[in-house]
Amino acid sequence: MKAALRSLLNRFPRLKAGLKRLRSRLSPPGGVSSNYVPLKTEEAAGEAARLRDAWQSDALPRRQRELVNTQLAAYRRGESIDVFDVMCQALRALPSDARGMSVLEVGCSSGFYAEVLEIAGLGVRYAGCDYSPAFIELARQTYPDLRFDVEDATALSHDRGAFDVVISGCCLLHIPEYQAAVVETARVARQYAIFHRTPMVLGQPNQYYRKQAYGVETVEIHFNEPEFLALLAASGLELIATYTLDETVHGGVGTANRTYVCRKIAS
Ligand SMILES: C[S@@+](CC[C@H](N)C(=O)[O-])C[C@H]1O[C@@H](n2cnc3c(N)ncnc32)[C@H](O)[C@@H]1O
Repeated sequence: MKAALRSLLNRFPRLKAGLKRLRSRLSPPGGVSSNYVPLKTEEAAGEAARLRDAWQSDALPRRQRELVNTQLAAYRRGESIDVFDVMCQALRALPSDARGMSVLEVGCSSGFYAEVLEIAGLGVRYAGCDYSPAFIELARQTYPDLRFDVEDATALSHDRGAFDVVISGCCLLHIPEYQAAVVETARVARQYAIFHRTPMVLGQPNQYYRKQAYGVETVEIHFNEPEFLALLAASGLELIATYTLDETVHGGVGTANRTYVCRKIAS
């Protein structure tokens, strides 16, 4: 039944996009993402700057972790969680064996991807960082054997090439200076950089939204895909794989949510 509905909606992308918007408007304010309001070009930069620190709210870690715990339990039972599956697939498909590689996740929240990678048996050496002291405190409590640091994605303290793989963990969309965060991800990576579940717009310029994330007001940027790919290339990254979590296109205009895997070009 679900598959039939999904296939029907895929044939009518406008209907699918409309239903998605409606679901976001109707979802409770405490849910993951709700109340999307598109921002006008002239207000986008100001709102993004005003809400830059929103994810440092002390209210977020507990709310996000409640959802994550449910997803982790399902994943442990062998159920599929699309965003977890894509991350593991991206690491497994790297040209060099991921086993034993050092991995830094930027924007790690409470570090739950450490557990995802462990359940999937990837055998990587995981470390995480996030600009929120509250998230990092929860990460350290939950995974006391792992390294977590409070770090801003736009100014990482790590040396050039400090980690085999750097994962930009779905955080660029909340960072007004996202170009600097991409450059930092590339600098700290030795071999690969992964930009996980990054929202794109197709056939239109960057779009800015104000929304509620777990009941906290934040800004979300959806990136013009060709410009984003040009930014990766200009940062010394060669795109080697793309994983699409979601895509709706009609007449060349649409939206997508993708994970991009890049190889670092020797600098
Ligand atoms: C949507 S959550 C992503 C969590 C997880 N990485 C994932 O992929 O599901 C975004 C995370 O990015 C962090 N973040 C936002 N701006 C940041 C910045 N400037 N530097 C580092 N982390 C940031 C937030 O605190 C939050 O934990």
